[in-house]
Amino acid sequence: MRFQVIVNISLIAWTLTPVLADTPSSPLDYSRPEAGEEFPGGAATHSKKINKDAFSNSSANMSFEREIDFKLGNAFFKRVWVSAPSSTQAADGLGPLYNARSCQRCHLKDGRGHPPNGPKDNAVSLFLRLSVPPRDDNERQQLRDHKLNVIPEPVYGTQLQDFAIPGQRAEGRMQIEYEEIPVTLADGAAISLRKPRYSVQDLGYGPLRPDTQISPRIAPQMIGLGLLEAIPEEALLALADPEDRDHDGLSGRPNWVWSQEHGRVMLGRFGWKAGAPSVNEQSQGAFSGDIGISVPLHPSGAGECTPQEKECLDAPNGNSEQYDNLEANEDVVKLVVFYAKNLAVPKRRDAGDPAVLAGKRLFHEIGCAGCHQPRYTTRQDPDNPEQSAQLIWPYTDLLLHDLGEGLADGRPEGEADGREWRTAPLWGIGLTPIVNGHSYYLHDGRARGLLEAILWHGGEAEPQREAVKRLSKQDRDQLLRFVESL
Ligand code: HEC
Ligand code: HEC
Repeated sequence: MRFQVIVNISLIAWTLTPVLADTPSSPLDYSRPEAGEEFPGGAATHSKKINKDAFSNSSANMSFEREIDFKLGNAFFKRVWVSAPSSTQAADGLGPLYNARSCQRCHLKDGRGHPPNGPKDNAVSLFLRLSVPPRDDNERQQLRDHKLNVIPEPVYGTQLQDFAIPGQRAEGRMQIEYEEIPVTLADGAAISLRKPRYSVQDLGYGPLRPDTQISPRIAPQMIGLGLLEAIPEEALLALADPEDRDHDGLSGRPNWVWSQEHGRVMLGRFGWKAGAPSVNEQSQGAFSGDIGISVPLHPSGAGECTPQEKECLDAPNGNSEQYDNLEANEDVVKLVVFYAKNLAVPKRRDAGDPAVLAGKRLFHEIGCAGCHQPRYTTRQDPDNPEQSAQLIWPYTDLLLHDLGEGLADGRPEGEADGREWRTAPLWGIGLTPIVNGHSYYLHDGRARGLLEAILWHGGEAEPQREAVKRLSKQDRDQLLRFVESL
């Protein structure tokens, strides 16, 4: 009953506003914000004070009862796991291999991570995904059938864990070197982009297969994820244009990935290459791969240890009868997923400011919105009342785009090739400096500000990047003001 009421209120609210098409098109009136635009997460948007906790609020339309689950989920998201056996059985089972001891350690303040600041910083919020190209028909077939997104490196698996519990060897250490690349804008402004090169040092279990593909990934911000999951698949597929039939230079391809939960191929939505179909699968993958905690979809107490990492497989683990022979059982996972789906998107700041509106016009005229699609109406879903039937403004099509050689990682994932990335949602991005105290953007945090992030766009987005380079300083500042206001 409670759910019904919430759904109806939000429906009424939106039927009072002018009817908006589901498929976004460019707004023609830039003299004031569009209806609903100031609330990017619809009725789930929070209007609380903007401070370093701005990404940690719950959906504003959440009932009091569900708020309790949100708080419990938060506690598990922050929980620092310890190695087994320990006196606190409920929180043991870390590793043996891991990248961090809690979700929050990477998704700092529910916001994004950062690359290491110098050699002493131990890099936890950026890690390397690993895989190898298929070598035989069986492997090729598994990729074609989407039974696997990638072929794991035979010894190290799909991710380099740079920590291990006492008595165990970590897999290795990521090393980054940056090269500065000067870029001059049309008005003479000089910018420098830093191009990273990644390598692995101190390998714990012998050499990597020589053809190993490495993809750096920074922990993304956590807001609005339930709403992204609730965008109707048809609305996203309607935006796909793999052959670029409309000749706008933008293709946009869905990533079709295997869902372990549902036992079928589904549209990928989460991760920098849209390699995971749901918040649940991404989160369970994180428990196992990032922290070494077993969960229903990944029940091994040894996390991502491979058969070649024998000591690691044999180490004591925290699977216990009390928790369904897992380290984090269904109940724990459900709470964390509920939390992750309900971190609210903050209300827009200054959406009606003339400079922001001028920047919005540029964003549309230059063609940024071709990939960073502004708005959708989420599907009706009585099980997820906070996300049901909301007009939302995430600025993404969740599709894959070729962004050129500069950003390419050369590591395919599902249907994504080595140059493709999922269009990053832009909502909330302007609050990164307040929430996380830095402005490092893109999949590996290489960009040291929004302008650098835009100047890294190539491939399909090269015309847009070139258009930004040609802007006057005033127009450029206005475009950035708009992105900062999201
Ligand atoms: C070691 C760092 C690290 C830890 C620990 C970590 N994450 Fe993540 N998280 C990431 C990275 C990196 C990505 C992007 C993954 C990719 O591109 O494949 C990500 C992505 C996600 C996403 C998808 C977000 C999006 O916009 O697509 C969710 C949901 C998520 N993590 C939940 C969790 C949960 C829940 C936990 C704890 C169980 C957790 N993460 C622990 C680094 C981490
Ligand atoms: C062809 C599709 C496409 C176009 C056009 C495009 N983008 Fe992007 N954008 C992406 C993708 C894909 C990413 C993620 C790239 C990565 O992380 O390597 C991204 C990332 C970003 C980011 C960083 C997001 C983050 O979370 O770190 C910003 C900011 C951004 N785009 C702004 C713009 C602006 C402004 C324009 C117009 C000048 C634009 N984009 C045009 C696809 C596009």
